[in-house]
Formats: sequence, C-alpha cells, structure tokens
Amino acid sequence: MSKKSRVVYLYDEDVGNYYYAPNHPMKPHRVRMAHNLIMSYDLLSKMRVLRPKRATPSDMTRFHTDEYIQFLQLATSDNSQSQQTLNEKFNINDDSPVFDGLFEFCQISAGGSISAAQELNDKTADIAINWAGGLHHAKKAEASGFCYIADCVLGILKLLERYDRVMYIDIDIHHGDGVEEAFYTTDRVLTVSFHKYGDFFPSTGHVDDIGLGKGKHYAVNVPLNDGMDDLSFESIFQPVMRRLIEWYRPQAILLQCGADSLTGDRLGVFNLTIRGHAKCVEYVKSFGIPLLVTGGGGYTVRNVARCWTYETAVLLDEEISDELPYNDYLGYYGPDYKLHLLSSNMDNYNSKEYLANIQEKVFDSIRHLPCAPSVQLWSNDNNLEKLLEDSDESDDEIYDERLCNKYLRTKMKLNTLKIDNGYDEDEILFPKHPPYNK
Ligand code: CO
Repeated sequence: MSKKSRVVYLYDEDVGNYYYAPNHPMKPHRVRMAHNLIMSYDLLSKMRVLRPKRATPSDMTRFHTDEYIQFLQLATSDNSQSQQTLNEKFNINDDSPVFDGLFEFCQISAGGSISAAQELNDKTADIAINWAGGLHHAKKAEASGFCYIADCVLGILKLLERYDRVMYIDIDIHHGDGVEEAFYTTDRVLTVSFHKYGDFFPSTGHVDDIGLGKGKHYAVNVPLNDGMDDLSFESIFQPVMRRLIEWYRPQAILLQCGADSLTGDRLGVFNLTIRGHAKCVEYVKSFGIPLLVTGGGGYTVRNVARCWTYETAVLLDEEISDELPYNDYLGYYGPDYKLHLLSSNMDNYNSKEYLANIQEKVFDSIRHLPCAPSVQLWSNDNNLEKLLEDSDESDDEIYDERLCNKYLRTKMKLNTLKIDNGYDEDEILFPKHPPYNK
C-alpha cells in the first residue's frame, strides 16, 4: 500500500459566524457544519489542523486593486445604502451584498488558501485543505456571484513563488471565471473548468475560450448540460484530466470542489452523488502532485457538509461509515441520517456523442503544442508581478472580450429551486438534534 499523504487542514472557527442576508443561499455556516461532521468522524486526529493567518490588505492587493480592498475594509451594512455609486462600481448587490464582518470573512477565506499554499511550498504537507475557500468568481476590482476576494488566485500566486507550473481544476457547477480571467494570458497556470453552460451564471466558459497571447491553449473549458450524473462526469473528467496533467506536468494543483454540482443543490442542475463528486478528488489525488483543495459553491448546506466531510476522508485514505455519527447538527440530516446521497431521476442532457465531441475539442486545442512550457524566463519575483500585469486590461483584445462577457452575465438565480426541507434553511444556524423518538 502506498504511503499516506501528509494532510494539513486549515480552519478558523469564526467562519461560521458570518451571515450574508436572510434567505441568501450562501451560508458560511456550512463550513462549520462540515467541520463539526469531520470532527465527529474523528478525522481531525488524522491530519494536522491549523488556524490560518488571516489575509492582510497587502496580501489581497497582490491581485486586487487598492481601491477595491479599501472599499471592502470600510464597507458596513450601515453605510452601504448611502454608497450607491461605489456599490455599482464594485458590483455590490443582492447577490453579493455588504454584510457585518464582510472583510473579516474575506480575510479568513483568503488567509486559508494562502496558508495552504505556503504549507505546500514549504513541503510540510502533500495536501492542504481549505473548505472556506474556492470563491472563484471574485474579480480584480469587483465582487461577483457571492465572491469578493479571489482566494484561489492569491493561493496560486503563492504557489507560483515556488512552482513553475500550477494547474487549477474547478468542479463547481459554475464556470471558474474569476480564476480563468486572472491567468488567461499566462502559460504558468493552466485553468480547467467543468461547468453547466448556457443560460446559467456567469455565462462564460465556452469550449472555444482557450486563453490569449502567451496563455493561448492554457485555459480549458468543459461546458456541460443539465443532469450530469456520476458516470457521465467520470467519462469526461478522467480522460481530460489525464491528458492535461500528462501534457502540462503541473508541479502543484489547486482543486476547487464547489458542491453545487451535487444532486438536489438549491441553485444547481446536475445530478452527481457525493461518491461521483469525490471520485474527481480521488482521481486528482492519485497523481501524487502537491494538492491544494478548496470548497466553493454549494447551497443545500447539509449536503455540502456531507460532501466535504467525505472528501476529507478520501484525501486521508480513510473509510468512513455511511451512518452519520452523533454531531451538533444531526437533526438536519434526517430523515435518513446517512452520509451518502442517491441521485434523482432527472433527465441527463449530456449524450455520449456530446461529451465525446467536447473532449475532442479540448484535445485538439493542445494537440500541436510542446509538452510543459519553458519557464526559464520566470525565475524571479519581478516576473511574478509581471505575470499579473500581463493579464491587466491594457490588452485591447482581452478588454473587448471582458466587456462582452460583462453584458452577457446573468445574475446567480436566487431561490430558483424551492426544496422542502421540513425547515427553513436559515434555521440551520443553530444546533438541531434528531427527535428523541427516532
Ligand atoms: Co457555484
């Protein structure tokens, strides 16, 4: 049997205290629920648990503009109403509202991904987990889709201090537009996103979007239709990832594990079970490349907690029972009190032909390129800063494309899918135990 990976788990217990707005689908509390379940399965004792340093404004301005970070630092729910112009400028709205403690929440989420990257850089861990990260829609000077600070971008920038080539893999149901955009013009980061495409937030991620300039062919998009199930997902994820990893030979990988691609998600339209979702994690792990794992979307909170708990076990090579252990929120996992989910009977609009065609297009894009790009030019920190300058909006071609994307953007669909949980999702903030007669 192969040696188990050294896993570090980054967690700040305050993360569960932040609250976007009543009925807002993004609930930071889900990270605390996941943590509680991870603890109840006794997984914390099998890894190094660290409270990450909170990201500072100067950590953030490595990617974001000073003005945007200053705005986030000063924004409070009290002054937000009177700042309409700034709210518009920074895309603050019902999707991505100002809430109490917003900046601290961003510091925790981003601090976790930066600390996780540092652990991999220092070789003190093979795998680093930050379930509070993965906020992949945040832009350089703009909030988007419940995301404010681009923790994945900041984590990857940290990894680039040590590694020449970093791969970003995104299995959230939404396109990983923020991370793709940040590294769209460089070959030092290969971004790969599997997502629902077509009349769906953020409207980007067409299979023909492959990067620009030096970054051409170093962005990969796998657009999918409603109803993706475990078998369909595996049938495209594994061959695509094998080919890309063998071709690009990344020295570190950031895997964004958005759980809104699970069946029954409040905003999602896929039909993955937790086993199907976790199979992606297991597959990426099998390459033995330093791995930073983050959370992401996920709006049926009890399933998010289940999913990230199971994936923590997979990363630890631990088997855990389908019978949920006693935990603070056990009452919310009824009526079955099981870890795993069953898929639904929804139609799968991804035919074998459709998936084969997409895969062919992805393989075509990289067919005529050399293997791993040469990176001798990128050997010092000045050049790391240059990398982000390259992706600045001074390039006309990129600028035009971004403008187009902006007009196409649709809002995240709040409350599109009403699920009867037998309780109000906001109620889930408080411990709930199963009925005693159960
Ligand atoms: Co998402």
